[in-house]
Amino acid sequence: MNADEAAAFIEHDEIIATSGFTPAGHPKVIPPAIARRGRQLHEAGEDFGLTLYTGASTGDELDGELARAQLINRRLPYQSCKELREQINAGKVEFSDFHLSNVPYYIQTGFLAPPKTAIVEAVDVTADGKVYLSTSGGASAAYLQAASRIFIEWNQFFGTKLKGLHDIYEPQHGPPRHILPIYTPSDRIGTPYVQVSPDKIAGIVLTDKADSSGSFRQPDENCRAIACHILEFLQHERRRGRLPQGQPMQSGVGNIANAVLSCMADDPHCDPVSLYTEVIQDSVFELIEQDKLEMASTCALAFSPEGQAKFLANIDEWRSKFLIRQQDITNSPEVIHRLGLISMNTALEMDIFGNVNSTHVLGSIMMNGIGGSADFTRNCLLPIFMTQSQSKGGRISNVVPLVSHADHSEHSTQIFVTEQGLADLRGLSPVERARVIIEKCAHPDYKGPLTDILNDGLERAPSKHIPLLLDRAFEFHRNYLSCGDMLGRKTS
Ligand code: COA
Repeated sequence: MNADEAAAFIEHDEIIATSGFTPAGHPKVIPPAIARRGRQLHEAGEDFGLTLYTGASTGDELDGELARAQLINRRLPYQSCKELREQINAGKVEFSDFHLSNVPYYIQTGFLAPPKTAIVEAVDVTADGKVYLSTSGGASAAYLQAASRIFIEWNQFFGTKLKGLHDIYEPQHGPPRHILPIYTPSDRIGTPYVQVSPDKIAGIVLTDKADSSGSFRQPDENCRAIACHILEFLQHERRRGRLPQGQPMQSGVGNIANAVLSCMADDPHCDPVSLYTEVIQDSVFELIEQDKLEMASTCALAFSPEGQAKFLANIDEWRSKFLIRQQDITNSPEVIHRLGLISMNTALEMDIFGNVNSTHVLGSIMMNGIGGSADFTRNCLLPIFMTQSQSKGGRISNVVPLVSHADHSEHSTQIFVTEQGLADLRGLSPVERARVIIEKCAHPDYKGPLTDILNDGLERAPSKHIPLLLDRAFEFHRNYLSCGDMLGRKTS
């Protein structure tokens, strides 16, 4: 059928669950058709709104199209779409921000209402119901099982070259939960397809569309500085015997994460790496070119347009180095713990006592969501949080007296890095942490004001353990709200 015919099945107030994890592997033609239909119904004065479940963030053809048509009433578990973010913050969309590892489990246990319709992008589908997914795993297997009807977007762009890259394993969530027998990033434990009942497939729409990721941006000076601090630190830890060689890594999304892998590729002292991660970006090509990639296990291949072309051109040669999994496997606390990952995620802000805010600007404005950052941080061997020391031309310090929203507490964090330096917080008391974070990570403009607040706390706070002054804890944030600058400087 065509996309409009598929969209005609969707009813008001339905729960739709789709493939997609980052702008990779999401359906690309049925959602725009649903948006067209929704607009027509709205113009005719009819109600038409949806609940949307996905793996994580998706591409503009899904979140963007449906948000612009004002069709999303409820959304989970993560997003990074400008229009949707505005609607969430305007109170028009109910957004549930979940740890990504939990989504399939919540579906399987019925904690989340099951979707009526699953819309999933595939590179092949067989008459007996074998669905070969495209560039991401996401929560597609759980959604395909839970939905009562399925629409497949059979994307010809990738040909059938992606067939075999997936390892689909659907854990039985118990209790008791069974062991996930993954001992190295390359271990395969499932099948290359999702098996569904063919009776549930209500339609197949042929497409021919690349994933809609943006172009790859070369890392800037600050990103490279952050990457260099991390590499130096890892080499130092290995020399001291505190970090075994060859521990697999998880690297988050964005430019900083890309830069770390680029710098690893460039560094002659850096050994080959294995990735056990959620998202793989273009920087992986540099590792391959320098013969430094052992294995890349991921939930999504989020390549730029040029990256997608390169991957498809070389897939036969590279196939053995890539594996795509579902998000309850890539982000499984059990597997992350067993593999002893080094995990690197980006913070919006970090405070001097070691807490991290990944999600809410000024404690209120939702940015994207927690994503997989806590799945990795709480369970890995070495959690690293990175950010630039300041944002918005220096009007915001990313090192603050107290985070305005806490996603990762001082008990979970270990290493903070900005372009200024790296703070190793392991084993330190709150005041020791504060001193080292200010010294190593804060921007020079903010070191004095942060030290002043800390010292004032040591004089006046109820305890010298965490010398927090409630009257000054949010001084930076209040300054920003009142005059657009965390130090209260006049902005032109
Ligand atoms: N206050 C206000 N705005 C801030 C800010 C702060 N403390 N820190 C950063 N920003 C702004 C930046 O200025 C930038 O704005 P712009 O888009 O207008 O330029 C934007 O936030 C993104 O920041 P950037 O420094 O470019 O980093 P990023 O693109 O890597 O995003 C997060 C950072 C925290 C938003 C992003 O990593 C995220 O959503 N993380 C949570 C989920 C996660 O960690 N997933 C990975 C698990 S694999």
